[in-house]
Amino acid sequence: MVRTAVLVSGGGTNLQALIDARRGGAMPHVELALVVSSSAGAYALERAKNAGIRAEYLEKTGFEERLNSLLAEEGIGLIVLAGFLRILSADFTRRWAGRIINIHPSLIPSFCGSGFYGLRVHEAALARGVKLTGATVHFVNEIPDGGQIIAQRAVEVLPGDTPETLQRRVMERAEWVILPAAVEAVAAELEGESDK
Ligand code: GAR
Repeated sequence: MVRTAVLVSGGGTNLQALIDARRGGAMPHVELALVVSSSAGAYALERAKNAGIRAEYLEKTGFEERLNSLLAEEGIGLIVLAGFLRILSADFTRRWAGRIINIHPSLIPSFCGSGFYGLRVHEAALARGVKLTGATVHFVNEIPDGGQIIAQRAVEVLPGDTPETLQRRVMERAEWVILPAAVEAVAAELEGESDK
């Protein structure tokens, strides 16, 4: 199993999807070992504690330095950004190349990059009038939302959608489905490599 860290900033519904997938036997190569939040009040921290996963809040000052210590201490082999709203340095993403993945709530390359996060992504999709949106799981590199795409799923925009209703549909039908599947696939691949 690959010891996996999940980085969060908010409610943590994607973290919950990973916890549920793990419990349900859908991620046999993944051990959820650590949750790190950039926000002290993130409900994601409660979700981690309820699931018996080590949960840490790290403040902005010295964030990456402390993160590096935690990752080493816990023997982490894979990092998942699940609603994590801080940009990591190019140095950090280079060191974790191929072992750090992110979930984004649109079909990249639409509505992504700097400034596109959370509800803002859905506001932009509605403002543009697209009829299809969705979610993307991708490897993280130094370009925001610019790394290799691992999985995508499309979701219909419906008449009368608000950013909130669209966000909920994209989460339920796309994010919570493709994230656990992609994390399992990457972990299985990494474990295969380490056996060679
Ligand atoms: C999710 O929709 C995730 O895709 C998005 O923030 C939300 C976090 O929700 N991430 C981004 O916009 C990153 N650019 P959650 O905390 O309930 O998982």
